[in-house]
Amino acid sequence: MQKLYIILLVLIVVSCNSESNKDDGKPMSEKPTVSTEFDKEVAAVLSKMTLEEKVGQMTQITLDVITKGDNQYSSSQPYELDSALVYKAIHTYKVGSILNTPGIPLSRQDWYKTIKTFQDEAAKTPRQIPIIYGIDAIHGVNYTIGATLFPQQIGLAATFNKDLVKEVAKISAYETRASSIPWNFSPVLGLGRNPLWPRLWETFGEDVYLGKTMGVAMVEGYQGTLGDPNTVASCMKHYLGYSVPLSGKDRTPAWIPERELRQYFLPAFKEAVDAGSVTLMINSGEINGVPVHASKFLLTDILRDELGFGGIAVTDWADINYLHTRHKVAETIKDAIKMSVNAGIDMSMVPHDFEFTELLVELVKEGSVSEERINSAVSRILKVKMQLGLFENPVTDPKNYPDFGSDKFAAVSKKAAVESFTLLKNKDNILPLADGVKVLVTGPTASSMRPLNGGWSYNWQGSEADTYAADKNTIVEAFAKKGNSIFVQGVSFEGENNINAAVKAAKQSDVIVLCLGENSYTETPGNTNSILLPKDQIDLAKALSKTGKTIILVLLEGRPVIFNEIEPLVDAVFMGYLPGNYGADALSDLLFGIENPSGRLPINYPKHPHAFVNYNHKHSDNIAVPNYYESDYDQQYEFGDGLSYTSFEYSDLSISTTEMNQDGSIEVSVTVTNTGSRKGKEAVLLFVSDLYASITPEVRALKGYDKITLDKGGSKKVSFTITKDELSFVNENLETVAEPGDFEISIGDLKKKIKLK
Ligand code: BGC
Repeated sequence: MQKLYIILLVLIVVSCNSESNKDDGKPMSEKPTVSTEFDKEVAAVLSKMTLEEKVGQMTQITLDVITKGDNQYSSSQPYELDSALVYKAIHTYKVGSILNTPGIPLSRQDWYKTIKTFQDEAAKTPRQIPIIYGIDAIHGVNYTIGATLFPQQIGLAATFNKDLVKEVAKISAYETRASSIPWNFSPVLGLGRNPLWPRLWETFGEDVYLGKTMGVAMVEGYQGTLGDPNTVASCMKHYLGYSVPLSGKDRTPAWIPERELRQYFLPAFKEAVDAGSVTLMINSGEINGVPVHASKFLLTDILRDELGFGGIAVTDWADINYLHTRHKVAETIKDAIKMSVNAGIDMSMVPHDFEFTELLVELVKEGSVSEERINSAVSRILKVKMQLGLFENPVTDPKNYPDFGSDKFAAVSKKAAVESFTLLKNKDNILPLADGVKVLVTGPTASSMRPLNGGWSYNWQGSEADTYAADKNTIVEAFAKKGNSIFVQGVSFEGENNINAAVKAAKQSDVIVLCLGENSYTETPGNTNSILLPKDQIDLAKALSKTGKTIILVLLEGRPVIFNEIEPLVDAVFMGYLPGNYGADALSDLLFGIENPSGRLPINYPKHPHAFVNYNHKHSDNIAVPNYYESDYDQQYEFGDGLSYTSFEYSDLSISTTEMNQDGSIEVSVTVTNTGSRKGKEAVLLFVSDLYASITPEVRALKGYDKITLDKGGSKKVSFTITKDELSFVNENLETVAEPGDFEISIGDLKKKIKLK
């Protein structure tokens, strides 16, 4: 019916140009091409819309605003929509989008009922434009009861397995549509280059190449072919430079020169735009004193004109208001709206009231914001709604998604967890454990689902995971299933201390599985003044080490908490990141050798609290003066580290040619052989070093990776292609160039030199 309506409108409208690229004054011919799909249909709808309807489309409110409860910040439980408020939002203010949960996860049936109510109301409006509902389904549809929760992004990066990441995203999309929601605020494309930042774990780690390739895999997995009711719109976030606040605290200022912005932070967004991601969320912070929500340079000049992004740019939470109340660049909220809309935002995540809607109508009427700017924003919103098929199918029904929460999806989540766990130390090959050993499981992260899942799990801070994932295994439960284990908490996040009891139990055990790390958090509640492992956890480790028993340290944490004081006291170290609902099962399989570890660190693991350096550092980051200054580059573990229970040998590194033209390419291959005693997976990493350059070169940078499986004794040739792209950097004039000269290619310990002409 609605489809017919669109076609009819197209026929009626003779000529109505989309304004989607007219708000910047540059000649159209210089711009990248934005897809013209649905342009006519969009123009047809737009031509009928009143200003109030258009501004309503640009408004996104949070669910609490229209539920029963004390105010717009909370919903009473059991959760219920307030029909008068729903009417006000959809009919009076004509909102185009709604987001979030009412503080608790909902069943699929409740999501369906909720979203159907909105779409039924929207169908009664003159233009019948469906609502686009958005959610943070960042590791599976984490606000739906019974959904499959996966490892968080940092763990997915550690798998170095793009195909697996794509599969995870595909399942997440399916389960999000099974929850009737078509828009996912994921993936995070910022780089986790500051270990203090409380959202480091929401990134793919610190590397540009890993981040951009994983980002593309996730966008492809989410979006598939948009319009297919098993897929969702992805949302690239948070554009741009959000992940490296100077203080390490969330939403505090960043200083990033444009050259570094372009070299490190822009590529992942560029690649995801090219991969077709249809929406983007803006960085809440400020860079070099300019809040990104007020930056026409970033939101229009770079995003639209340079990257050619044609989709929706949505603000982050209340960020237009913060231009006035927090950043102090706008004297009033109205000025803030003018600033941000003119800079290039399309939709405001307001999210608590309708002030944006009212004031933006006024601004257009006064001539402070042009109607062209509004038309361009609304066109993009309508287009994404059409691309998603919302006009024909405004709400997907859970009954059409029989695989939701299925065992086969759980198996993929467990596989991702297995491949993410990163073995960083295995003294005397103490692991895997022999069957039948007596294990003491202890530590604050051992007995709860919270440290396995992290934030954005059932609720914002992940604090209810033990209730909603009660049927999944904690580490204690997973070990109990394997038999012969005892559990003593030792220390807890709530301040409990029974170290003596843990020591007593250790004396009666063969092996201690010591589970340390962090409890769940995200965003500003996760800010920290110290990245050191807390003292009570260190005390527990020290007391246990005095027993002389073997200690296997398992770290569940969102950022690399420094533990150099106890590292020499433990025999093995497993970095688990935030492995999700099947993380404990994965861990117990790994410790007993049912699975073989294959994760690699996607970040540097710092050793010292005041010496953070990324792996692709500059040569002058390492001015080692023996026994004198502490100027050397000294990490606990390095990006790319990760051990296996088998051994791999690299041989025959070969290159198709030693010299390459700017438009040429070089094929690089290496043979990898499993020389150990069991089947294993290996992430093969290729690094490039530019030996001399006009901007100080990085010591090395990842430019290729592949994950392979080899049987005992098996061998495989792995190939990569090097082009100018892999040899480029951003020069002083902000141009991406590959300068002629010598480069070194390394895989494992093997190296070859090539020359670019
Ligand atoms: C976060 C975003 C998130 C949004 C909606 C914000 O506070 O920064 O990452 O998508 O809330 O929940």
